[in-house]
Amino acid sequence: MCGIVGAVSVNNVVPVLLEGLQRLEYRGYDSAGLVVTCGGLQRLRTTGRVHELQKLADEQKMQGFAGIAHTRWATHGAPSVRNAHPHFSGLEENNPRIAVVHNGIVENYESMRERLQSEGYRFVSDTDTEVIAHLVALNLKRSEGLLEAVCASIAELQGAFAIAVMEEARPDKIVVARNGAPLLLGLGESGNYAASDVSALLKATKNMVYLEEGDVAELTSSGYRIVNCHNGKVVQKVERAVHETELTSDAIELGPYTHYMQKEIFEQSSAVANTLEMVFNAQSISPNLFGSAAESIFSQTSSILILACGTSYHAGLVARYWLETVAGLPCNVEIASEYRYRDPIVSPNTLVVGISQSGETADTLAAMKYAKKLGHAHSLAICNVPESALIRQSDLRFLTRAGPEIGVASTKAFTTQLASLLLLTATLAKLRRKLPPEAESCLIADLRHLPVAIQHTLQVEPQVKAWAKRFAQKRHALFLGRGVHYPIAMEGALKLKEISYIHAEAYAAGELKHGPLALVDSEMPVVAIAPNDQLLSKLKSNLQEVHARGGELYVFADADSHIVPSENLHVIRLSEHEGLLSPILHTIPLQLLAYHVALEKNTDVDKPRNLAKAVTVE
Ligand code: F6R
Repeated sequence: MCGIVGAVSVNNVVPVLLEGLQRLEYRGYDSAGLVVTCGGLQRLRTTGRVHELQKLADEQKMQGFAGIAHTRWATHGAPSVRNAHPHFSGLEENNPRIAVVHNGIVENYESMRERLQSEGYRFVSDTDTEVIAHLVALNLKRSEGLLEAVCASIAELQGAFAIAVMEEARPDKIVVARNGAPLLLGLGESGNYAASDVSALLKATKNMVYLEEGDVAELTSSGYRIVNCHNGKVVQKVERAVHETELTSDAIELGPYTHYMQKEIFEQSSAVANTLEMVFNAQSISPNLFGSAAESIFSQTSSILILACGTSYHAGLVARYWLETVAGLPCNVEIASEYRYRDPIVSPNTLVVGISQSGETADTLAAMKYAKKLGHAHSLAICNVPESALIRQSDLRFLTRAGPEIGVASTKAFTTQLASLLLLTATLAKLRRKLPPEAESCLIADLRHLPVAIQHTLQVEPQVKAWAKRFAQKRHALFLGRGVHYPIAMEGALKLKEISYIHAEAYAAGELKHGPLALVDSEMPVVAIAPNDQLLSKLKSNLQEVHARGGELYVFADADSHIVPSENLHVIRLSEHEGLLSPILHTIPLQLLAYHVALEKNTDVDKPRNLAKAVTVE
């Protein structure tokens, strides 16, 4: 979390820094700040959003030819101007004046703080970042230059982070370092830039250099150099490829929509079509879609372990049903933050699948590394960001081509993950001779039909909107599903919690009578997913249990589920049962419900309180 931008140019960099921060605001929005060199380090900070910072910068007619900027998701220290980045060292006399912005966590900051305090450095914030500023200042006294001082400092810091640093005495350069959190360089004609992700730099340049772990780079307006460090010393200059990004700034514009979440819900049809494009053009499913080594790895695979967090974890839970039923493969799905601290039993020939929109989630990355360390030989990443750490650290990869997801609540990433996981299931089933040619053709036909089916499902929006008005008055809600739709109920509850702040819990409908039924009264809306599958009659009995106790039911049913509306039983009919596609399609109205309830409650839909998009800290 937190977004970093840096720029050195022959032109004023303030507009580039502010534009970059706007684009990175999804990563954290507790406070924002920037510093530029203009006859000294000029700093602006606010606990408001980036547009507040923009106002301040305009009022002060701020200008400079080098600068670093930051949008914060608080870890150490409450959101306040004092804790907002950039942080300084050099408030004391005779010390070099340094400014730092930082994404990530310094784990040994307490001991470092004590040490630096004993060296005479004065701390004015509660952050771990201030330790970096003072440490660089200290190391600068005995180093050749800022780059060397940053190398020396990183060697003393524990944790995963990315930083950008400036020195008042050298206003023509910035130094950046990647150490476990994402960072890339942008190479422009009139200047050079750094940022946490590509979207921040698209207006300035399309030429990107993705830094590797441990890289430290120095940028000036006319050039850059990247070095590797070892034991705090610069070892050698390294070359990294320059990539021309395919992303356009249009892809990150809001267009005719009011919110990114709304845009992303309505983009799902094309996002899924892009993700499955290669299958649509083929007559058969091939393991090569997952990488050149996939056929050999998949042939050895006898079980699957899925690691993920949040919404991506829910996608994994759906996939478990598919993998077991269609491919006949045992599948375990684990919350990454839990898995990384357990002593799980390793079974041979298990393929470890990491699912992540961002490919940056610290817990997922750590869990994947842990699984490898435990002895799992092969890994597959299902991810939406091509140059992400998850993609780079996995043996096999499949990109969800959803395009940038900016709304904090994940929507199109989830449905494209599900589409990808269905394709993975089919591929494994085929290799295991569980998918005869006719079944394969039917599945390809189903996948081809999916974008149209999503478009069709989106048409329920006006009915969902009417329901949302009633939900906005409630403080709690229950979500019910059975079988493969139980994780969809979990996803519906998560969406409602995240953006409307209504407490929502999901239960497997058969579990209700084992406890949660006690919560049901007229104030507790119960949302149920009622596809016409083999569990429908069981689900109907569960719904009766709620109805008989005065609960108010809101049911999303397949057109052929034969659930008739009555008092306290509201029904929105989707299309007829769509087989394996059903969980994907049932997700859409739940996303719309959360979105419209949030609108009714006038919450900040794209930037819900306390959250940030990519959780790059533990
Ligand atoms: C929920 C949401 C989060 C993410 C989770 C994992 O709407 O967005 O629960 O799904 O933080 O993020 P990724 O998929 O980037 O690893």
